[in-house]
Amino acid sequence: MKVDFYNIERLHEPLVGELNAAASRVIESGQYLLGSELAQFEQSFAAYCGTDHCVGVGNGLDALHLSLLALDIGRGDKVLIPANVFIAVALAVGRTGATPVLVDACAHSRNIDPDHLESALVPGVKAILVVHQYGEMAEMDEINAFARKHELFVVEDASQAHGARVNGRVAGSLGNVGCFSFYPSKNLGALGDGGAVVTSDGSLAQRIRILRNYGMQSKNEPVEAGLNSRLDDLQAACLQVKLPYLDEWNRHRREIAGHYLNQLVETPGLSLPAPHLDGSAAWHLFVVCHPRRDALREQLAFHGIETAIHYPYALHRTPISCSAETGRSGLVISETLASTCLSLPLAPYLHPAEVEHIASEVRAAAHDLS
Ligand SMILES: Cc1ncc(COP(=O)(O)O)c(C=O)c1O
Repeated sequence: MKVDFYNIERLHEPLVGELNAAASRVIESGQYLLGSELAQFEQSFAAYCGTDHCVGVGNGLDALHLSLLALDIGRGDKVLIPANVFIAVALAVGRTGATPVLVDACAHSRNIDPDHLESALVPGVKAILVVHQYGEMAEMDEINAFARKHELFVVEDASQAHGARVNGRVAGSLGNVGCFSFYPSKNLGALGDGGAVVTSDGSLAQRIRILRNYGMQSKNEPVEAGLNSRLDDLQAACLQVKLPYLDEWNRHRREIAGHYLNQLVETPGLSLPAPHLDGSAAWHLFVVCHPRRDALREQLAFHGIETAIHYPYALHRTPISCSAETGRSGLVISETLASTCLSLPLAPYLHPAEVEHIASEVRAAAHDLS
């Protein structure tokens, strides 16, 4: 049995009619940018996240960049970020002129470790950029308490956590501002690039609206230097079609993750994700760790199971973020994750038989490698 890491055609198959209808509507409307489809999606997504505002932008990287700009973060400032995350997070900080300060992950949650925040706090830190890695929410109570104590902004990157919840609150609504990517393979993905910022701070939302459109308050009224980064109406209309399915898709993801956890328990050499007991993660990825990760990956590929690595580097090992600073507690967990992590296929359309098959191949490979 061959299993793709992610097969977007399979996800979209039942929605093709609805997506075609939405695309035709936009094509015939002649409104392709900053039109009514975008306004409708922004309203729906803000309501879904439980925030007062949503601003659609060009992609997840720009969502982060625009949020930091709107918080007046720039040259001379520093931003705490996790060390084991996608490169866009460091790039967004660097683009503002600020310096990322890397904080190690917690071995258990794989999210930024709140216990390391204090030792990473150097003069000039103005914000914490939290990533809800793999769909699991970071420890927001502790992070927000720390931020309040030190008067820092909290930017959530919920690009892997659309619809994840903690204590009934949705990812993206717990900090000053929440950022999303709608890259096609995300839990809520567009049919191309897309992103959004959500917030209940009206003036911040207004500033991001201006900044995403060259810094223009209205046509021919530039008020500051901005970007051209708008979620286009075609993508917004497709996202509007997909949004009502998000909770059901996430429920399927949780079920599949539950099967994996049951079927892979006590597999030699394999470390499993340790989700919050409230079961509210969005399970964007199911990431296991194994000391012989590359051999495990090869063996699974030989048996037709495609896997991926998120991510094979800790940020300080990349040339792009080599100017980043490192918190005093070191980055041991992030380095270990980079060399051992492996993402198994996880998608809402997977059948239990496929999940069982993947799990049994993982068990067999791990036994061979032990
Ligand atoms: C956590 C995180 N942040 C930011 C991004 C960047 O998003 P985009 O590819 O839409 O720029 C991604 C996407 O892959 C991501 O996973």
